[in-house]
Amino acid sequence: MNRLKNFSLGKPGYTPIPSIQLLIKSLFTEYDLDKVTSPWLNYADQYLWLSRSSLSLYLIAKLRFDLTRSKSINIFLPDFFCNEALSLVRTNDINLYFYNVNSNLEPIKESVYNLLEHSIPDIIIQVHYFGENFDCSFLRNTANKYHSWFVEDATHMIFPQGNVGKVGDFILYSPYKHFPIPNGALLVIPKSKLTDSINFKHLLKNLEDIQSSSSRSSQTQTLLKWIIKRIIQNIVQNRSVLSSNISIGNQHDNINPSYVSSCGTRVYKLSFRILFNLYPSFSQLVHRKRLISFKIYQALSKINNNYKDQSSNYITHMIPYSNNTTDFFQILKIQETIWSKFPTLFWPDLPPEVLANPSCHKVAISRTMNTLYLPIHISITDSQINAFLATVDRHRSKNSP
Ligand SMILES: Cc1ncc(COP(=O)(O)O)c(C=O)c1O
Repeated sequence: MNRLKNFSLGKPGYTPIPSIQLLIKSLFTEYDLDKVTSPWLNYADQYLWLSRSSLSLYLIAKLRFDLTRSKSINIFLPDFFCNEALSLVRTNDINLYFYNVNSNLEPIKESVYNLLEHSIPDIIIQVHYFGENFDCSFLRNTANKYHSWFVEDATHMIFPQGNVGKVGDFILYSPYKHFPIPNGALLVIPKSKLTDSINFKHLLKNLEDIQSSSSRSSQTQTLLKWIIKRIIQNIVQNRSVLSSNISIGNQHDNINPSYVSSCGTRVYKLSFRILFNLYPSFSQLVHRKRLISFKIYQALSKINNNYKDQSSNYITHMIPYSNNTTDFFQILKIQETIWSKFPTLFWPDLPPEVLANPSCHKVAISRTMNTLYLPIHISITDSQINAFLATVDRHRSKNSP
């Protein structure tokens, strides 16, 4: 189970950028880790800060593996899932079983029952896609029935909402996706879920073992690169964000190879320092995200009348744009001027097992091919939104009869 050598840093370009002022201030900030972490926790929850949630998944799997007496463990997870996030759990002693999701991204019960006919899950994962609070009762009950651990993947959520954080045995958050920090994921274990088997000390020991075998110097180099890149992005901000447009026609053009460069296992202190400086404005940042989504949804409804504004329901991580058409890429080509004005991507990079079996994973594959996502983060400026709105209006007036 040692897959940590080439562990990677998050995808640049589509994530928030710290201002130079915030960066410089944060180099000298003292921080209070409990305070920084408090928005993600319920009373007496245990937590670990890790570089990325892929590492959280690995640690959960390792803990389970250490407890079982069998040669391997089984993980049930949705077929609409990011392959890159699985890089650390692709080992001979972990079997991955992909259940189907429906067009609303909810688990399909029959598909889970089919998997249960052949294997018993050690771990079941459900995702709160794009920040929406999904009902977890079916998979939670399934986990209870088979004595599996239930993992709530809330990596797309900026902060827990509703019931999130109260249902899972483990909850995953990836603050680095939502805040301008170099890395930082949070693995939360509710107090009520701690048992002899979900043993926090054991988890910590496994983390220490991993950290002692991973290189500090390559992590420092990655941090320096991150800082330099963010300074450059600040200087050429508009150009760098606006030029990150999609390459229509090939979804894999959007997968950035640097996503799989070296990141290490430790959270940078700089991440905590930046978060601590942002802490007093957390609620304003959430408000800003809502406002950006509202404006983008408004623009999208001008392109597609059937568009449903979800901005008041939850704080979205990415806004999906799809068009009920047989040739989505043709539509995108016609709308090229619009999409060149905003960073967009196709998501996720589906696991090869899913891609290899299209008849079994129709929804996951067709959704991946027929949906474009607009990442919504706090560094999107008013001028970028206005440029986007203006191109939508121009496109509409040019193309209306
Ligand atoms: C649903 C989901 N879970 C987990 C991960 C892994 O998170 P991280 O990037 O923190 O390793 C991702 C990554 O994009 C994801 O989309």
